[in-house]
Amino acid sequence: MTTGTVLGELSLPELTLKVDALERKLRAKEKTIRVLIQRVEGSASEVHSAFWVLEQNIALEKMVVKRTAEINAQKEQLAQALAELQGAQAKLLQAQKLEAIGQLAAGIAHEVNTPTQYVSDNTAFAKRAVVGLIETLQASLAVVQAVQEGRDTSTLIPCVDSLLKTAKIPYLLVQLPRALDQAQEGLGRVATIVQAMKEFSHPSSAEKTPVNLREAIETTIAVARHEWKYLADVDLAMDPEMPPVPVLRNEFNQVILNLIVNAAHAIGGVTAGGSEGRGKITIAGRTGVDSVEIRITDTGSGIPLHARAKVFEPFYTTKAVGKGTGQGLAIAYSVIVDKHQGSISFETEPGQGTTFIITLPLRDAGLGAAAPAKDIP
Ligand SMILES: Nc1ncnc2c1ncn2[C@@H]1O[C@H](COP(=O)(O)OP(=O)(O)OP(=O)(O)O)[C@@H](O)[C@H]1O
Ligand SMILES: [Mg+2]
Repeated sequence: MTTGTVLGELSLPELTLKVDALERKLRAKEKTIRVLIQRVEGSASEVHSAFWVLEQNIALEKMVVKRTAEINAQKEQLAQALAELQGAQAKLLQAQKLEAIGQLAAGIAHEVNTPTQYVSDNTAFAKRAVVGLIETLQASLAVVQAVQEGRDTSTLIPCVDSLLKTAKIPYLLVQLPRALDQAQEGLGRVATIVQAMKEFSHPSSAEKTPVNLREAIETTIAVARHEWKYLADVDLAMDPEMPPVPVLRNEFNQVILNLIVNAAHAIGGVTAGGSEGRGKITIAGRTGVDSVEIRITDTGSGIPLHARAKVFEPFYTTKAVGKGTGQGLAIAYSVIVDKHQGSISFETEPGQGTTFIITLPLRDAGLGAAAPAKDIP
């Protein structure tokens, strides 16, 4: 019995069969090897592409880091530019305020001078009258004393009589109280102007404070009186129920002043500086749910079509040198829109006049929920 096959013992056909079987095995092995090689190659390309993706990611990450640094640098530059811009804007506002006060100063001096003049005239009259009355009183007292002492009054009475005539007592009885009233009125007027000037130029805080807009507007109308009084009448029609509105008081006053002066100039333009009739400036205030609206209407020239898109641009002016610098409305826009999140617009009709419309939120966006200033139709 044999357990193995010795090749030498095999016959040729058997040998051939054996070789065939071995060849088949070999081919099968080769096939397995090819498959394995393919797999290895496949894995290698997978590894390769994984590496590629990784490389890409690293490159991307590097780019992101670089861009972030660039963006941060740009952000810093922008913040710096913004701070500079805000500083320049504050300076511009301050400069325009000083300029406005400078321009108003001559008018205000005149405003104070007129009532001072009639206080002075009336007190001079009262002084003369009182001197005459005292003389008459003294002469009358001398008569009374002479009668009491039983002396002769025949020389004293004609003297009193003559003094009474010169003193024009019935005239004085009417005119003296009138003169004193006028003097008091003049002093009241001076006090109002001084008070308005004080309030107007009082430095307001950098924070918004609740302000009674009617009072603020009255103050500004009084300060600007010299600008409008020869040209127009001013009507103030504010909603008496309007609650205090959070504003930067000084800036708000400045906006109203700019709009009143513009209205007066526009009226002056169509009335030949007031010699051809008077115009009207109406300032009206309404209260909405979330905002208030102030309308400043004039019966002036209106804004021509070609100028409408430009009036809020800094330095756009149609006025002569020395009369306008073109900053009034640009500052009004920045104060109302940027600083108060309100809105400013206008309606105009050439030859009829113009209305500037301001809306201001009733709640300060910085203090709570932002209130869009849009609820008044
Ligand atoms: N109520 C108005 N009626 C007609 N035109 C107006 C009125 N308000 C402004 N304008 C026009 O808009 C322009 C710009 O006004 P803005 O107040 O900005 O500057 P200004 O009045 O010319 O100068 P400034 O206010 O600096 O003294 C004015 O020159 C004028 O042409
Ligand atoms: Mg102006």
